[in-house]
Amino acid sequence: MNELTIHPRADDHMKGCVQALATVHAADRYPADWPVDPEGWLTPRSMLDAWVAVDGSAVVGHVVLARPEEALAVAVGLPSQRLVSVARLFVSAGARRRGVAARLLDKAIGVAAADGLRPVLEVEAGATAAINLYERAGWRYVGSSTADWMTADGRVAQLRFYVAPSDHRT
Ligand SMILES: CC(C)(COP(=O)(O)OP(=O)(O)OC[C@H]1O[C@@H](n2cnc3c(N)ncnc32)[C@H](O)[C@@H]1OP(=O)(O)O)[C@@H](O)C(=O)NCCC(=O)NCCS
Repeated sequence: MNELTIHPRADDHMKGCVQALATVHAADRYPADWPVDPEGWLTPRSMLDAWVAVDGSAVVGHVVLARPEEALAVAVGLPSQRLVSVARLFVSAGARRRGVAARLLDKAIGVAAADGLRPVLEVEAGATAAINLYERAGWRYVGSSTADWMTADGRVAQLRFYVAPSDHRT
């Protein structure tokens, strides 16, 4: 791996983002179904900001900050105006366990903290790598709910809700 750098996502990163996402879908079935419009899936209407991790010239990771859904705010017990949601976090299958996701999460949490917002997220219960990542980084589990979609292995998705540690320093 070359030197890893984190950048605000720009239009010319989108092709690389979709290529990276394709490796993630093949390895992990994330997302469970390949989207008809992958660039659109990477750009939800609630999106506020997005960053990419770049290795050389290749996009190897991606994260979004978005306005949280109300269910997440209710689970956390704080008004949604004080929260921001971490979403669309993934790292290319070939760039794992090198701290790429940790760097992206740090970036997103730092920007949220600078804006006075508390990061929250939801993760499907079968995403064990992601759950380990969040719990190891100090995110606090605050509840769960049953989703309205099926996982790739045929289960009804179970969402776990987390809130970021409050002591983040950038
Ligand atoms: C979850 C994911 C983003 C982690 O990316 P990554 O760059 O490999 O993660 P990092 O290298 O930053 O890992 C940091 C820590 O998280 C934990 N972790 C990450 N992957 C793990 C795994 N497969 N198994 C167990 N723990 C894991 C470890 O504690 C790790 O620290 P360590 O390597 O020193 O033990 C990546 O596996 C991925 O893209 N998964 C599919 C998409 C997904 O589930 N996204 C989350 C949606 S909510």
